[in-house]
Amino acid sequence: MRLKYFSHSAFQITTDSGLVILIDPFLDGNPTSPTTSDKVKADFIVLTHAHGDHVGDSFKIAKRCDSLFICVNELANYCISKGFRAHNMHIGGSHKFDFGTLKFTIAHHGSMTPDNTYGGEPAGVILSIDGKVLYHTGDTGLFYDMKLIGEMTTIDYMLLPIGDNFTMGITDAVKAVELADPGVAIPMHYNTFPVIEAEPLEFKQRIKKIGKRSIVMEYGEEIDL
Ligand code: NI
Ligand code: MN
Repeated sequence: MRLKYFSHSAFQITTDSGLVILIDPFLDGNPTSPTTSDKVKADFIVLTHAHGDHVGDSFKIAKRCDSLFICVNELANYCISKGFRAHNMHIGGSHKFDFGTLKFTIAHHGSMTPDNTYGGEPAGVILSIDGKVLYHTGDTGLFYDMKLIGEMTTIDYMLLPIGDNFTMGITDAVKAVELADPGVAIPMHYNTFPVIEAEPLEFKQRIKKIGKRSIVMEYGEEIDL
């Protein structure tokens, strides 16, 4: 599979079979995004929670591409109420899709849509695709169960926030990597706005100090996993 980073928490996964999955596609209103919503496609859209910087341009993209939303029950019902297709899930549950398996995990955060509808619990997501496991933590504070998540599943790539203020900052993110023990850590949710400014190279150095690997992805960069 290939992984592309659009900045903030927005990623695109392209499977070996050519399916495209977008996670939290916040593009048009995102000052750091290298692209716009009219230039991407999606077979599936995975949302970690209902905040505007994560739902982003989902509805515009889904309308054009007839994408299937995958989210926790309340947020999935919200998508359905707007006329979209959605697969309802919830935390702790996994399901097999055409692209692979997806499981929702806990995340410590909030989840209200921009029009003040309760979006259910915020979540992280574990994707098993083309023989690799990717854990996108969503917006979250540090929690000790990340150790359990890493014990239950060998994580190849962990995508986690480092921007502080709304989520983990660098110190907590380094601890999160220590707990979940992924093969590679990829920082996200930083430098989009002044309040979440963080230095990804400081994260990279501190990850190296604990004997772990990280990749700081450029905005728009796509890598083979
Ligand atoms: Ni949020
Ligand atoms: Mn956020």
